[in-house]
Amino acid sequence: MTFRIALNFEDGATRFIDCNAGEKVLDAAYRNKVNLPMDCSDGVCGTCKCHAEQGSYDLGDEYIEDALTSEEAEEGFVLTCQMVPSSDCVVSVPVPSTACKLAPASVEAQVVAVERLSDNRVRLSVKAVEGAALPTFLPGQYVNLTIPGLGGMIRSYSFSSAPGADVATFLIRNVEGGAMGRYLAERAAPGDRLTLHGPLGSFYLREAKRPILMIAGGTGIAPMLAMLELLAVQGTGGHPVHLIYGAHDASDLVELDRIEALQARITGFTFITTCSGENNAHPVNGRVNDHVGAEQLQGGNVDVYVCGPPEMVEAVKTVIAESGVSVAHLYSEKFLPAQSEALAA
Ligand code: FES
Repeated sequence: MTFRIALNFEDGATRFIDCNAGEKVLDAAYRNKVNLPMDCSDGVCGTCKCHAEQGSYDLGDEYIEDALTSEEAEEGFVLTCQMVPSSDCVVSVPVPSTACKLAPASVEAQVVAVERLSDNRVRLSVKAVEGAALPTFLPGQYVNLTIPGLGGMIRSYSFSSAPGADVATFLIRNVEGGAMGRYLAERAAPGDRLTLHGPLGSFYLREAKRPILMIAGGTGIAPMLAMLELLAVQGTGGHPVHLIYGAHDASDLVELDRIEALQARITGFTFITTCSGENNAHPVNGRVNDHVGAEQLQGGNVDVYVCGPPEMVEAVKTVIAESGVSVAHLYSEKFLPAQSEALAA
């Protein structure tokens, strides 16, 4: 027996999948090459939360309250990684179909340039090999890069370039002893072949419906740059956009020329840069969370995008929670510095 599940996406597109008896919707979706949002698949993170509009189903009892509260369950919210249908269902998925409809593609690309922006930051530029095309992505998403000569080892990097550009760029933190850092420092050369797997991730720019606050630490600026590129083209709907960009040392505040150029292209876009290291001459000091206050939180009517090392992301969340302001939407992504691995949070 199979059940027919209609997946209605945020952009209005609908995709039907067949779900076997006893099968979870998330598994059925993946079998049908639909990448629904997920991170843990264990009922822990809440990333797969959707809304069941019609149908009957069982959610079991293996998920935690943090992922789905009992009130939410009563209102019809579901975790697709736990949802086992017992009839045909209609499920509203709170992301655009473009984020879900296909399995991550693999694209062969070649290195165009490797530029050292500071002692610790490298900009890697790649383009698709002849006959291929770079993956379409939502600004903020990342790809897994296969490092040449390392037996298929992959690392995850967010696009810092605009969607649709012929050359994709990534900002890479030069981790001492790291595989990608060694490759970039010792061997990388134009023409090297890389494989891009993706795009991936649920950290991407949503439609601008209210003021936007972006908070970036270190190479967490990369996805913000891609988002700002899209805002420069599509506009902000008249809403202000503020970026707080921090690094330990001023030398690691990279791409400032580009951010200034984006400021000239985006009406209402402001930004500050801040350094957390001691004894630096940067005019603004402190961690990014030191610069999040009532003015930036706009009484809660704000979409907040946070990307950086885990402790930075958590510090920002703590500041927001302690402010007593419930922001309209909070999207975050953490980078594990040792691996430059992106984890949607
Ligand atoms: Fe984490 Fe479903 S994917 S709760």
